[in-house]
Amino acid sequence: MSNPQNLQRHNPKSTLGRVLITGAGGQLGTEWRSELDRRNLPFEAFGSAELDITDSDQVEELISRVRPDVIINAAAYTKVDLAEQERDKAFSVNADAVGNLAASARSIGALLVHYSTDYVFSGAAQDRAKWPGGYPEEAETHPVNTYGASKLEGEVRLRESGADWLCLRVSWLCGAHGKNFIKTVRRVASANGEMRVVNDQYGSPTFTPDLVRKSLALITSGRRGMVHISSRGETNWHEFACEIVRLSGIRATIHPIPTREYPTPAPRPAFSRMDCSRMEGFGLPAVPWKEGLAEVIRELDSHE
Ligand SMILES: NC(=O)c1ccc[n+]([C@@H]2O[C@H](COP(=O)([O-])OP(=O)(O)OC[C@H]3O[C@@H](n4cnc5c(N)ncnc54)[C@H](OP(=O)(O)O)[C@@H]3O)[C@@H](O)[C@H]2O)c1
Repeated sequence: MSNPQNLQRHNPKSTLGRVLITGAGGQLGTEWRSELDRRNLPFEAFGSAELDITDSDQVEELISRVRPDVIINAAAYTKVDLAEQERDKAFSVNADAVGNLAASARSIGALLVHYSTDYVFSGAAQDRAKWPGGYPEEAETHPVNTYGASKLEGEVRLRESGADWLCLRVSWLCGAHGKNFIKTVRRVASANGEMRVVNDQYGSPTFTPDLVRKSLALITSGRRGMVHISSRGETNWHEFACEIVRLSGIRATIHPIPTREYPTPAPRPAFSRMDCSRMEGFGLPAVPWKEGLAEVIRELDSHE
């Protein structure tokens, strides 16, 4: 399926207006809250206990009461392996609820900012040959697992909603908050002094501080449609883990293994790097992945 784009530029707003954040307790939701706090910008944030985005009545009631100008949907079902067993739940949160949010956004003329994933792509060898620098936004999608299929359906609901939307596809998302690969590697490598990490899945991380800054720049400059946001350069999980322990000052051996030695319920794409030319064309240069990682490690170290 090809991805029709919707890239017209709407009236840029110098201010954000009233902001509502869903999924405020997750890694991206927490980063959004801390960046808006840092900039002294007001917002209303709701964790899953306060706002269940699959409850269309609750969504409609809250959005018509708060009347935000911008809705940041940081809520998602992100358990990639469990999604193979909980297909309905994954589609309910990642697709149906996106439709609910978009319908409510449309009814009050708000912008819906949504996040999708590199896992909408298959990572097939012929794709890598066709796009060695990464998948562009309009590349054909073909998810290889249920999580990716549910996120792709969310993109479809967004496009069909008639709402004003900005969808940012991100890959290998991690930052200083919540659960992610950086924190797992630091914990396991420190405890065990060694770990095995796959070295045949290639991509590029998106770091939450960089993502929120770029999201803000895109929103306030009136960008709409689909935009890929990740870092400059390609890596694999093993190399990424080696750099995490190096920058963290952890003495540990990271053993490279092939994916076949680390089977998971949900298959992963072997190649999911995304081309970020559109983002860069909007004046937002991709940060080299080792620099983005260093920023997150500095923040993690400052909390310890
Ligand atoms: N993590 C990655 O590697 C990655 C990669 C590519 C794209 N993405 C996308 O990036 C976005 C942010 O991901 P993230 O890593 O920040 O996810 P996360 O840390 O798992 O946070 C997701 C949040 O959504 C909440 N949530 C789940 N179901 C909900 C519901 N029905 N109503 C309201 N809130 C609900 C969760 O709350 P509970 O914990 O209480 O359930 C959680 O706080 C998502 O769209 C994700 O698909 C992530």
